[in-house]
Order: sequence, then structure tokens, then C-alpha cells
Amino acid sequence: MLREHIAEILVHEDELRQRVRDLGAEISQAYEGRKPLLVAVLKGSVIFMADLMRALTVPHAIDFMATSSYGAATESSGVVRILKDLDEPIEGKDVLIVEDIIDSGNTLHYLRGLLLARNPASLRIVSLLSKPARRQVDVPVDWIGFEIPDKFVVGYGLDFAELYRDLPFIGVLKEEYYRHLLGEED
Ligand code: IMP
Ligand code: MG
Repeated sequence: MLREHIAEILVHEDELRQRVRDLGAEISQAYEGRKPLLVAVLKGSVIFMADLMRALTVPHAIDFMATSSYGAATESSGVVRILKDLDEPIEGKDVLIVEDIIDSGNTLHYLRGLLLARNPASLRIVSLLSKPARRQVDVPVDWIGFEIPDKFVVGYGLDFAELYRDLPFIGVLKEEYYRHLLGEED
């Protein structure tokens, strides 16, 4: 689980559990009498999605999209590419995008435009985390789980070079492991 690679825990397991439960209640209320389609952005949001689904009291369907990620680097290029599109059309549906984190805002800005062009009945966004200090483009996010400082975080689905997704909390990676994983030496 690589727990010893973590410098600091920003959001503990019990805080995540409680917040996801509360988000589930709020989102259920907002979609009362409807059947939203939850669209998770792979891969970072899978754990959040799985927990959020079970906190919802409204019937719902799920689908997945994948966008190009940073790879091993931790900075956004501003360029977003679709690696996997939705299985079904979303015209006339109540779509809820489920994201792990909004950082520069580029990914959600692009996805929002792309999905709005397909004429859903409504389009809303929930993001587990937000780093407001890093925003380059403004995106209307309907629900945010936690605002966090400008630090690179892992755990609860979020990775660095595909590792650490299984950690049950949101933590900051020790700097020595960035360097190690990037293959840098000093
Ligand atoms: P944005 O396009 O800059 O808003 O970045 C969004 C995507 O970058 C997220 O969906 C994450 O996959 C990834 N990302 C941004 N910040 C972090 C972080 O601190 N840890 C892990 N992944 C991150
Ligand atoms: Mg992501």
C-alpha cells in the first residue's frame, strides 16, 4: 500500500466516508424523481464513483469516459484528448460528471463543452477535490467534496504513475518518491 511514501494526510478515511455520504444525500435530493446518468472520468474517479453510487437513493445508470492524463508528469499540458468515449448517446438525459479532482480546470472545461454539445436534458458536475489556487479556466462545479491546497495528492483513486490509488485516504506524496518515479537524480 506504500503508506510510508506519504508525507502528510490531507483528508482522512472517515472524513471521506462522511463527505461522500453527505454528497450522496444532496445529489439524491437534486435528482428526486429522475434517473441521472453518472459519467465517471477514468481512472481517478472510480473509487469515488463506487462509493457515491452507494450513497445515492435515486435510481441511476453509469458510464465511463477516459481522457489523456499527465502520464508520469504532474503538470497539465492544457491539451485534453478523449481515449474512451461514452457507450450510449446522452441526448435528453440528466448527466452528472463524476471527477476525482479539478486542478487547472482544463479537463472539465473540455468535457463539459463536449457533452453539452450532445444535448443532455441537464449537465452537472461533482468533483471530490478542488485545488482553487491552480485554476486556469473557470468551470461551474455543482458539488465539491473538499478544497485542498496546491499540493500533489494521491490515494482514494488518485495516482502518481499509476501507484497509490488503493490508499484509503488523500495524502501528499513525499518528494523523494516523485524524483524516484520520474527517474530523476540529484
Ligand atoms: P485539470 O485538467 O488540470 O483540472 O486536471 C484534472 C486531472 O488531473 C484530474 O482528473 C487528475 O486525473 C489529474 N490530477 C490533477 N491534480 C492531481 C493530483 O494532485 N493528484 C493526482 N492527479 C491529479
Ligand atoms: Mg482524472
